[in-house]
Amino acid sequence: MTAIKDLHEEKLFLYTMVRLYKPETVVEVGVSQGKSALAIAMALRDNHQKDKVPGRLKAVDDWSRAHGGKAGSKKPAFELLRKDDVARYVDFISSDSQAFLRGLGTHSIDMIHVDADHSLEMAYADTFEAMRAAKKLVLVHDTTNLPKVTEAMVLINNQMFPCSANIFITPMRGYWIGSPSAFNVAASIGAGI
Ligand SMILES: C[S@@+](CC[C@H](N)C(=O)[O-])C[C@H]1O[C@@H](n2cnc3c(N)ncnc32)[C@H](O)[C@@H]1O
Repeated sequence: MTAIKDLHEEKLFLYTMVRLYKPETVVEVGVSQGKSALAIAMALRDNHQKDKVPGRLKAVDDWSRAHGGKAGSKKPAFELLRKDDVARYVDFISSDSQAFLRGLGTHSIDMIHVDADHSLEMAYADTFEAMRAAKKLVLVHDTTNLPKVTEAMVLINNQMFPCSANIFITPMRGYWIGSPSAFNVAASIGAGI
């Protein structure tokens, strides 16, 4: 069984955010072999067992680059979570991130973790849709180690959050943290949406 102390610090960060925010609905776009999904699912298990808060993760990936850049399947992620008996908190969904996020209603999901395609266009588009669909929290991974993701977050900050205080946490390859309610106000004013 994976213990909390065994989680790598960036997965421990995810675990901690899920324990703090206690979301009932979580979406992750970009699952790969399931390491971040494991941390989220462990936190959902603990929210349920310790605090009686039910929660589910929708783990979304098109599995196009799930195995070190090569196409794969959901099986390794499912097996990783099954070993720790937390796969029952997760729905594994095969979809393109944009198709999935665009299908979500505004403010319909408590928390969204973005970690799929790391190009400028896709990191921007996934974060934008996540900020629209989320109610409490958006976390974007790889914001300090991948320049295109950094650039996408700067664009989001400049265009959508002219006076926000989003955080680039520098260890752990960087997380950008977004508050959807502020975004929806800023987006409707700043972007004329
Ligand atoms: C960096 S990995 C995710 C790592 C995982 N979050 C973790 O920390 O263990 C990125 C994943 O995004 C998936 N992906 C890339 N582009 C995608 C897209 N447009 N839609 C859905 N998934 C995509 C790839 O198949 C890959 O599995």
